[in-house]
Amino acid sequence: MPTSASTFAENVDGLYSFLYWLSIISCGGIFVAIAYFVWKYKAKGRGANEVGDNTSHHNTALEITWSVIPLFICIFIFVWGFRGYVEMRTPPKDTLEIHAQGQKWKWIFTYPNGHRDSDLHVPVDKDVRVIIQSVDVLHSLYIPAFRTKMDAVPGRYTDLWFHATKPGDYPVFCAEYCGTAHSDMLAHAIVHEGGGYESWLEEIGELQADEAEKDPVAYGQKMWSKQGCKNCHSVDGSVLVGPSWKGIWGTNRKFADGSTAQVDENYIMKSLNDPAGQVVAGFTPSMPTYQGQLKDYEINAIIEYIKSLK
Ligand code: CUA
Repeated sequence: MPTSASTFAENVDGLYSFLYWLSIISCGGIFVAIAYFVWKYKAKGRGANEVGDNTSHHNTALEITWSVIPLFICIFIFVWGFRGYVEMRTPPKDTLEIHAQGQKWKWIFTYPNGHRDSDLHVPVDKDVRVIIQSVDVLHSLYIPAFRTKMDAVPGRYTDLWFHATKPGDYPVFCAEYCGTAHSDMLAHAIVHEGGGYESWLEEIGELQADEAEKDPVAYGQKMWSKQGCKNCHSVDGSVLVGPSWKGIWGTNRKFADGSTAQVDENYIMKSLNDPAGQVVAGFTPSMPTYQGQLKDYEINAIIEYIKSLK
């Protein structure tokens, strides 16, 4: 089992262990019975094999027993599972709300102050509700340490909630096959110690702007990695879902519709805001728009990084 880091873990693990051991014991019982009957009813000779005994065809008491006992076990499992389900689907009042957006191929988490991050940061010992959307196809937000998972469905809000119990850094997966880089659609769920979440949120905005100003190329590289650009755009010339960034600065691009443009600041900004408006010849329009999602210093950093990839 993965680390248990939410209030759901105990119940989920308990039910899972119960099913696991029930299966092992039932399976063992069946194998023992098979072995016993094979031994007991083994034909003593060729003649005995061909003429069966005239035995009774059924045993009412036995058949009722083997139907009713499993029925009660199934009802017990259903009630246990259903109670857990209801708890998971009913967020308490006064939760901290964080928006999650799935897109090919990354998660973006938006915090109450407007900060957007590729990781899920939450405080320990607090009810958190995550409101989930998708901009393109089905994804599924899965946090094994919290024992919770919910689909991200285009054109619809879904949600999940949890109460993290242990500070730490836990993996977040996409659990719905969503295309080429599905298995790279990873993030971290970072559970902060008491007070840590609030101070992280306060500092992060200033820190990033500072960092971007001091070394835009390094910051641009970080954006390339954290914003999911790297899943489609290589920086070594290899062709992935989209064109490589290596050596494109200043070159002329040919688009699918026959028009051309030079790679400059405006070209890159337009590619981020309206990627479907200028699809490079030979590629399919699969990039989502970043309109309104990036701050100016972030766009500048990406531009400086592309410039540096000679
Ligand atoms: Cu997103 Cu798989």
